[in-house]
Amino acid sequence: MSSTKNNTLNSNQKKIPQIIAVTSGKGGVGKTNFSVNTALLLSKLNQKVLIIDADIHLGNVDVMFGISPDFTLVDVLHGSKSLKEIIKKTPYGVDFLPATSGVMDIIEGEDNIVLSIAQAFNEFQYDYDVILIDTGAGVSISTLSFVLGTDKIIVVVTPDPSSISDAYAMIKIINQYHDDAQIMMVANKVRNEEIGESLFYKMNLIVNKFLNTSLIFGGSIIDDTQVLASVHAQQPVVIRYPRSKAVINMQLISRRILKLPVRKSIPKDGNYFDRVREKLNNLDLEGTSA
Ligand SMILES: Nc1ncnc2c1ncn2[C@@H]1O[C@H](COP(=O)(O)OP(=O)(O)O)[C@@H](O)[C@H]1O
Ligand SMILES: [Mg+2]
Repeated sequence: MSSTKNNTLNSNQKKIPQIIAVTSGKGGVGKTNFSVNTALLLSKLNQKVLIIDADIHLGNVDVMFGISPDFTLVDVLHGSKSLKEIIKKTPYGVDFLPATSGVMDIIEGEDNIVLSIAQAFNEFQYDYDVILIDTGAGVSISTLSFVLGTDKIIVVVTPDPSSISDAYAMIKIINQYHDDAQIMMVANKVRNEEIGESLFYKMNLIVNKFLNTSLIFGGSIIDDTQVLASVHAQQPVVIRYPRSKAVINMQLISRRILKLPVRKSIPKDGNYFDRVREKLNNLDLEGTSA
C-alpha cells in the first residue's frame, strides 16, 4: 500500500489540506456512506482525515460511525465551546466535526461569531491532509455554500433517472459559479462496474456538450447488500466487511482522489469557512434554471 503523503507544504511549512465536498442532486444516493468509508480508506492510506457533517437537515455521519456527538458547531457559534472542543475522535482514527441544523441561520446572521470560527479553523485545518465535507443534496443555498467553498467536488450519482437529471442540475450550477472546480463523479448503487462507466460517459458527454467542461471519473460502487447490513449495524462497511465488493470499489476511488492535482498555496480568499460565509451572503439562485 502506498504511503505517499498527498499534502503539500506552503512557505510557512504548514500542510495544506485538500478540502473535498461530497454532494449530489438527489438525497439517498449514498453520500454519507461514501464519505464515511472513504474517510476511513484515506486514513488507511496514511492521510490524516477530518470529516465534516454539513448536511444540516439530514446529517447522519454520527449514526454511520455509531457515535453520538456531545456538541455541534452551533455550540461553537454560540460561544460556549471552541471548535477544537467539538471535534470528535472516532474509534477509527478519523476525526469528525458535526455541523447540524441551525448553523446556517447563525452563519448568515452573526458575522463576528463566524469570523472567530474561520479564525479557529485556520488554526487546526493544518492538522489534516484531507477534509471531507458530507453535504446535503440539491441546489439549496446552504448546500451550495458548503459545496462552492471548495474547488474539489465529488458528485454521487445513481442510475435512477431522477438522480441523473438532478446531478446534472447540480453540476450546471457548480460550473456556473465555480468554473475552475474539479468535479469528480462517482456512480453508486450500480449492478456492475460497466454500468457505472457508461453512466459516467453519458453524463460527461452532456456536460462537455452543454457546459463546455469535463468531469473526472472517480469510479463505480456496486449495489452491495453488505453496505445495507453495515448501516443497520451502525458500523462502516470498511470495518464490518473489509473484503466486500463495495469496499474494493471505494479503495480504487480513494486512490484516485489522492491523484487529483493538489493545491500548492493557501487560497487568497480566506479559508473554507470564510468562503462558505461569502457564498451564503452572495449566492443568488433566482433565475438559475436546471
Ligand atoms: N453501494 C451501496 N449498496 C447498497 N446500498 C447502499 C450503497 N450506498 C448507499 N446505500 C444505502 O443507501 C441508503 C442511503 O445512503 P446514504 O449514504 O444515507 O445517502 P445520502 O447521504 O446521499 O442521503 C442507505 O441505506 C445506504 O445503506
Ligand atoms: Mg447523508
